[in-house]
Amino acid sequence: MTENAVAVVILAAGQGSRMQSDLPKVLHRLGQVPLVGHALSAARSLEPELVIVVTGHGADRVAQAVAALDPEAATVLQSEQLGTGHAVRQALPQLEGFEGKVVVLYGDTPFIGQDTLAALASHSADLVVLGFEADDPGRYGRLVVSDRGLERIVEYKDADAATRQIVLCNSGVMALEANLLRLLIARLSNENAAGEYYLTDLVALARAEGRRADVVLCDEAETLGINTRAELAAAEAAFQARARIRAMEDGVTLTDPDSVWFALDTVIGRDATVGPNVVFGPGVTVESEAEILPFCHLEGCHVSSGARVGPFARLRPGAELGGDVHVGNFVEIKNAVLDEGVKVGHLTYLGDAHVGEHTNIGAGTITCNYDGVMKHRTTIGPRAFIGSDTMLVAPVRIGADAMTGSGSTITEDVPDGALAIGRARQVTKPGLATRLMAALRLKKEAR
Ligand code: UD1
Ligand code: CA
Repeated sequence: MTENAVAVVILAAGQGSRMQSDLPKVLHRLGQVPLVGHALSAARSLEPELVIVVTGHGADRVAQAVAALDPEAATVLQSEQLGTGHAVRQALPQLEGFEGKVVVLYGDTPFIGQDTLAALASHSADLVVLGFEADDPGRYGRLVVSDRGLERIVEYKDADAATRQIVLCNSGVMALEANLLRLLIARLSNENAAGEYYLTDLVALARAEGRRADVVLCDEAETLGINTRAELAAAEAAFQARARIRAMEDGVTLTDPDSVWFALDTVIGRDATVGPNVVFGPGVTVESEAEILPFCHLEGCHVSSGARVGPFARLRPGAELGGDVHVGNFVEIKNAVLDEGVKVGHLTYLGDAHVGEHTNIGAGTITCNYDGVMKHRTTIGPRAFIGSDTMLVAPVRIGADAMTGSGSTITEDVPDGALAIGRARQVTKPGLATRLMAALRLKKEAR
């Protein structure tokens, strides 16, 4: 264990009854990722030895989401919600033998900045609380400070009128030595106005032990918690506003920033351009100088430098676009690698496929990848030419420099350099169209 080892405990057992939802609060999405995902990613920024999520309401679903978001994170169950102190106590078995600092975060507070957390975790006091000066202190816990630092936290319900005048508030985020946590947590009592075990009481207990407690200040906006759908919508607006500004600061051109939607983990390179009405789902990276034209939807994909996507294209999970690839309108790509210089301009579905470099995919091409039970792969070599309206019935392999005739249904492999045609031969009947139309008109008149 390193000297500055950190463990993070994320409290996520609460019901969030004001969301009016069957979904546990921390699974509601912000920036296309469940709220708890924001806490997990903040936690990861500290490079912790351990991350432990305390679950309660909807524990199974929350644990499942946590496992998907961060497979290294552990979950522990708090079967009854007896307070924030009680919640942290549930994590103690996981913390056995851990010697560094324990940082406590809330699963429903997504905006705590990485710099703020780093300042908290590296502070020299035995116990540090993240505080803020509230415009409207409302029902927050109040921080009572003296010239020796932080003396205690008084919950709103337990505060007298004078204490309620204090505007320095508790964000809920706390960092303390693991040994101190183990020593003090058993001493928490629930003899207070809420009848709960308050984590915040650790401050006064630490002071009584002669330990030093202090406050790190942050902006109130960072401490924003989400309790209602309206707050979730406001948080989404705030999240998107920041993501747009960050992208532009990183050198991305957004022609209409307000209509571009980012996910928590969207990465876009310098001098990339994003047109209006583009939505980034989770797991997208776009390299420098790529161009995303209007009305595209991207998720779980990688777009290499110089590639051009859209307008009206959909890149689904596993889409990997090489350099200078062109993907045009009404094209859907899923779990497919397109090597450098591939062109797929119009009305096409490529799924479970690999396309070699500089291959041209004609309009209306479809990889028929699903037989109703299983998925099958399509492999297309480099410099191939797939004629318009080709159905590629997978599993199938098209060789290098091969061609398919327009309108072909290809069910057998095509060797390198071969031309495959799989369609009915054309029959032409001279004058038949004219005669047929005349006969139909006569029939109509006779009615
Ligand atoms: C808490 C703080 C308060 C602070 C405020 C900031 C305490 C006693 N009070 O109050 O000083 O100003 O947050 O928002 O800590 N949770 C559990 N298990 C429980 C109880 C809570 O996991 O048994 C989780 C909740 O899901 C939530 C977080 O802990 O994510 C905070 O709980 P909440 O009930 O909202 O605390 P507050 O009363 O707001
Ligand atoms: Ca709260």
